[in-house]
Amino acid sequence: MLARLAALLGLSKKPSLYIRPLKEHDIGAVLAIEEKMYHYPWSESIFKDCLKVGYSNWAYVKNEQLIGYVILSVAAAEAHILNICLDPAYTGKGIGRQFLQETLTIAKKKKAESVFLEVRPSNTVAVKLYKKAGFKQIGQRKNYYPAKEGREDALVLSYQLE
Ligand SMILES: CC(C)(COP(=O)(O)OP(=O)(O)OC[C@H]1O[C@@H](n2cnc3c(N)ncnc32)[C@H](O)[C@@H]1OP(=O)(O)O)[C@@H](O)C(=O)NCCC(=O)NCCS
Repeated sequence: MLARLAALLGLSKKPSLYIRPLKEHDIGAVLAIEEKMYHYPWSESIFKDCLKVGYSNWAYVKNEQLIGYVILSVAAAEAHILNICLDPAYTGKGIGRQFLQETLTIAKKKKAESVFLEVRPSNTVAVKLYKKAGFKQIGQRKNYYPAKEGREDALVLSYQLE
């Protein structure tokens, strides 16, 4: 009753889509998405380590359900996006672009001046997303990722925060 009244008055606590710190209790939901989205998913212990070492870890939540996550490390004015991933049920709707923008805002608040990331050239969706957002290719790491046949290079992209 109170919640309905608050909603009617526009006083609802949270928007339907928001970002919040990622917690250990989220790891189950994170792994379910990770395993759906990557051929070489990160393990539970990698995510636990990311929480332990104090990276900037964020959950994207829609209608109280975790639909994406980002692992960001920030040190000495440089931010690295180590993982950004969305539940496949929510891709292709502009949410990834929004999530990336929020990640850049977080990096800026943490006093980063540039943001770096590695991406597989075969991940055309992500490459397009980053390039549209203003990332520029600054290098290529040979044989960086495991692949079906041998290894795949990584494109190194960077973004200058104003
Ligand atoms: C990469 C990812 C976060 C993008 O999120 P998304 O919500 O699907 O992307 P959006 O809908 O916001 O689209 C943003 C841009 O990405 C590109 N894009 C999205 N879907 C695409 C598709 N099916 N084909 C080609 N480009 C596509 C487009 O450039 C798009 O911009 P546009 O619509 O103006 O052309 C998401 O697909 C994902 O989680 N992928 C798996 C994990 C991953 O690969 N992460 C990156 C590792 S480096």
